[in-house]
Amino acid sequence: MPLLIKNGRIITATDDYCADIYCENETITRIEPSIDASTLPADTEVIDASRKYVFPGFIDPHVHIHLPFMGSNAIDDHESASKAALVGGTTTLIEMICPGPTDEPLAAFNEWNDLASPSSAVDYTFHMAVVRFDDLAQDQLKSIVAEHGIASFKIFLAYKGALNLDDSDLFDLLTMAKDLGVITTAHCENADAIDAMQSKLIAEGKTGPEWHEPSRPVSVEAEGVHHLATFAELTGAHIYAVHTSCTPAVQAAVDAQLRGVNIWVEAVAPHLVLDKTYAEQPDFVGAKYVMSPPLREKSNQETLWHGLKSGIISTIGTDHAPFNFGDQKIMGKDAFTKIPNGIPSVQERIDLIHTFGVLTGKIDLNTFVNVCSTNAARIFGLYPRKGSISVGADADLVVYDPNAKHTLSVENSLSKVDYNAFEGWEMTGRASVVTVRGQVQARDGQFVGTIGRGQLLKRKPTHF
Ligand code: URP
Ligand code: ZN
Ligand code: ZN
Repeated sequence: MPLLIKNGRIITATDDYCADIYCENETITRIEPSIDASTLPADTEVIDASRKYVFPGFIDPHVHIHLPFMGSNAIDDHESASKAALVGGTTTLIEMICPGPTDEPLAAFNEWNDLASPSSAVDYTFHMAVVRFDDLAQDQLKSIVAEHGIASFKIFLAYKGALNLDDSDLFDLLTMAKDLGVITTAHCENADAIDAMQSKLIAEGKTGPEWHEPSRPVSVEAEGVHHLATFAELTGAHIYAVHTSCTPAVQAAVDAQLRGVNIWVEAVAPHLVLDKTYAEQPDFVGAKYVMSPPLREKSNQETLWHGLKSGIISTIGTDHAPFNFGDQKIMGKDAFTKIPNGIPSVQERIDLIHTFGVLTGKIDLNTFVNVCSTNAARIFGLYPRKGSISVGADADLVVYDPNAKHTLSVENSLSKVDYNAFEGWEMTGRASVVTVRGQVQARDGQFVGTIGRGQLLKRKPTHF
C-alpha cells in the first residue's frame, strides 16, 4: 500500500527541513514541500507527522540475538529482538554470528540466517565472527563474503579459549580482509591479561559482580585497541573497534587515526548512560550490569559524548546481549567470571540517546541521526539504501514524537529478558510510527507489523 507522511520535520545526518514524503513499492519516490493526498491512489495510507520529526530508520550495528555464550544461550529470538528493535525505532539490525572454535563458518552462517529469515521483522545483515582460521575456514569465509553478501568480519581479542584469535591468525585474517575489501570489527580487550587478573581475584575470594570491572581495567581495553591498530597498520586492513568504553581506549584509537590507520570507533548505549556503580549493587543485583568491556567510572562518559560530537566516534550501537537474571546471570553467583556477559538495550537505545544526548545538548539532532543510523550504513555498505531519506532509498522511516513521555520497564519491553537495566527511567521522546520498506511495523510502543518481513541485506565490500 502506498504511504504518505505529511507535515513532518525531516532530520537526516546533514539536513533539517519540512516536507512530505511519498513511498511506493518499498522505496521513497517523492519528497516535496507539499504533496496533495487527493491526487494519490485511493488506498494510500496517510500519516500526519505534525510536530514530529521524521528520521531515517535507525540501524543497530552491534546486536547478539542467537548467541551460545558462556555456557548459556541469549534469551531472545529473532522475533522478540526485532519487535523490540522496531518499537524503539530501529529498522535494521547487524547481528554478530558467533560460532564456536570448532564450528565451520558456512554452517554457522546458515544456522544464523535460517533463524533470522522467517522471524525477523526488521531488515538484517551479519558480521561474520572469525574464531578459526585454517584453510577450510578461509575458503568458506571468502564464499560468505562473495556469495552471501556479508562484507564485515568480527574478531574477539577477549574470551580466551572460547572466541579469541591468536596474533598469527590475526595478522593473516587482516591481510585477507584487506584483500577482500572487508572491514573487521573487533572486541578489543587483552584475553591473557583478563585471564590472569580473573584467576588472581577469584583466588583472593573476590567473587562478586563488583570485581568484574577490576578484572579488566581500562588499560586492558586500551592495550586491545592499540594491539588491533598495530596489526591494521601492518596489513593496511580497515578496522572498527566495537563497544569502546573509556578514555584510554578512545585515546588509543585517536592515536591510531593520527598515524593513518583506518580505524572506526563504536560506542554502545549502556556505556553512555550507566556507570560501574550499577555493577556494584549488593545482593548480586550488580550481575544485571555485567558486560564486557565493563561499565566504567562515570568520567569516561564525557569522553564518549565528546567523541561522538567531534566525529572521533562514528556510531552508537547497543551490544544487545540478553541473559535472564533469574536463571542465567545467577550461574555466576559464586564467581563473577561465570556471569553471562551482556546488557540488553535494543528497544531502549534511541530514546536513551535522545533523552540523555540530544535533550541535554551533548549532541545535536543531525549527529544523533548520523551516529545512530547514517554512519553505520556508510561504514557497512548499506548507504544510501539505508541511513538516508532520499528518493530511491528504502522507505524505512521513523516518525518520532520528541515530547512523548514514557517509562522504561520490563513490562513494556518486547525483549524476552526478565529484567530491564533501565527500570523506571523516564524518557522524553518515542517513535510513534516506524516503517520497514514502506510498511508500518510499529506504532506508539506496539508492534503492529508482520513477522518475517525482514530481509537479508546483501552487501558489497567497500574497504579496499
Ligand atoms: O558483554 C558483552 N559484550 N556480551 C556480548 C558479547 C560481546 O563481547 O560483545
Ligand atoms: Zn564484545
Ligand atoms: Zn557484542
